[in-house]
Amino acid sequence: MFRKINSCGLVGINAFHVETEMDISKGVPDFTIIGLGDAAVRESKDRVKTAIQSAGLRFPEAKVIVNLAPADVRKTGSLTDLSIIAALLSATGEIQTDLSDSVFIGEASLGGEIKGVSGILPMTILSKKSGFKNIYVSTDNAYEASVVEGINTYGVKTVRDLVDHFKGVKPIAPQKKYIPERVIPKNVLDFADVKGQSVAKKALEFAAAGGHNLLMLGPPGSGKSMLAKRVPSILPPLSFDESIEITGVYSVAGLVDKDKPLITERPFRSPHPNVSLAAITGGGPIPKPGEISLAHHGVLFLDELPEFPHSIIESLRQPLEDREITVSRTAGKSTYPSTIMLIAAMNPCPCGYFGSTVKKCTCSEHKKKQYISKISGPMLDRFDIQIEVGEVDYEKLASGRKEESSEAIRERVCKARDIQAARYKNTGITCNAEITDDILDKVCEMTPEASEQFRAAFNKLGLSGRAFSRILKVARTVADTENEELIGKKHINRAINFRTLDRKYWNT
Ligand SMILES: Nc1ncnc2c1ncn2[C@@H]1O[C@H](COP(=O)(O)OP(=O)(O)O)[C@@H](O)[C@H]1O
Ligand SMILES: [Mg+2]
Repeated sequence: MFRKINSCGLVGINAFHVETEMDISKGVPDFTIIGLGDAAVRESKDRVKTAIQSAGLRFPEAKVIVNLAPADVRKTGSLTDLSIIAALLSATGEIQTDLSDSVFIGEASLGGEIKGVSGILPMTILSKKSGFKNIYVSTDNAYEASVVEGINTYGVKTVRDLVDHFKGVKPIAPQKKYIPERVIPKNVLDFADVKGQSVAKKALEFAAAGGHNLLMLGPPGSGKSMLAKRVPSILPPLSFDESIEITGVYSVAGLVDKDKPLITERPFRSPHPNVSLAAITGGGPIPKPGEISLAHHGVLFLDELPEFPHSIIESLRQPLEDREITVSRTAGKSTYPSTIMLIAAMNPCPCGYFGSTVKKCTCSEHKKKQYISKISGPMLDRFDIQIEVGEVDYEKLASGRKEESSEAIRERVCKARDIQAARYKNTGITCNAEITDDILDKVCEMTPEASEQFRAAFNKLGLSGRAFSRILKVARTVADTENEELIGKKHINRAINFRTLDRKYWNT
């Protein structure tokens, strides 16, 4: 007797369709699973058999062979257990319904419960796209799967419940859809708390408006960490598609909140310098996305950048450029998205006071050089906006003056983003930081004066080709915040001024 049940697998954050084929024939009782499974798939045999017996159901006294197709893709994890159970119960006649328009994903436990698995969102999206009408998952995953429109989601608690459902004894009600609330983030830190620092605040506003990477350099206590932590309060809202994408990453990482299964706020990740390389890039024996992907469509904040190991800093270079990261492991390659805004903060030297106006630096030239060189030239180049954050004086701190709120800044950021959204409609680009070389000339048109200014500065400062395009993109953002179609001289000047740190600090 032959049965075929639909299920899914995962590579990176991408789901693929799995067909669980089962053949039951007379012969010496045996239970085999083939189709390039890892240890978890082999262990599936024991879980499935015991779960069926725990539910008080019969396991066939026959030769049972399961093939997980396609055989040439390695399946990891236990997510096909439920499909094997459905195939068995269908073959033994416990389930008599036609299951060809349904997908089954879940892990069996020895006691007969169905447990949740990671990556339900991308697998549900694929199932819907492939035209399936129903998806059966653990009750733990049902709310998350319900985010996807156009497919009925059923939450299965136990093997017994599955049988009772199809027998019509106790039908499972389709999972109620999760409808996310669109709320302005509350309880986030506000820029109104930061006194002075108008240059740094403006630079962060441009970074948020165009999605640019930003580096802050300055003495300890100048407010760098304070400023960075307030960036989430001025970021534009996520679009629904972006929400789905980022939730997919969290789904695969097993980090989706059961009660709030769609991520509706831009992520802000700030890993500690002693984080492992794999935790940043992703990977591991059971591949999971790293911090750089958990920050997708949001901010990765690296405070005290030179404290991070050189290997971690350098590992960011490629994904910052490609907006995705591929990690190779024995289990195969996994690719995760990494469209991020990188924000980093650092002191200018080990003691922190090189360039300070209030305290004298005690570092030797050698120590200073060693410290600063932890950030390589190519890495520094990737920060579109580089600023110095100086100490705030007593008068400013004690003035009691009311500073501009995050809400007011966010409003300008959103306006600039609307202009970009209209400009890049249907191109796959969402903001100026993502402008590709092929459209750079077209979307970054300068006035003749701006062009002349840029030429003079380029030659005088000996800028690189990469600096050229990055300056243009930032100038585009500056012009967008002023609703100007052409990039003017003041816009280009502002962008050039954001690229001057290297001459002061890196050329020592
Ligand atoms: N501009 C500022 N306005 C208000 N408080 C400030 C400012 N700069 C620094 N502070 C105070 O100093 C503390 C230390 O600042 P922090 O952001 O940690 O500095 P850094 O990261 O540059 O070392 C802050 O938590 C805040 O209390
Ligand atoms: Mg700090």
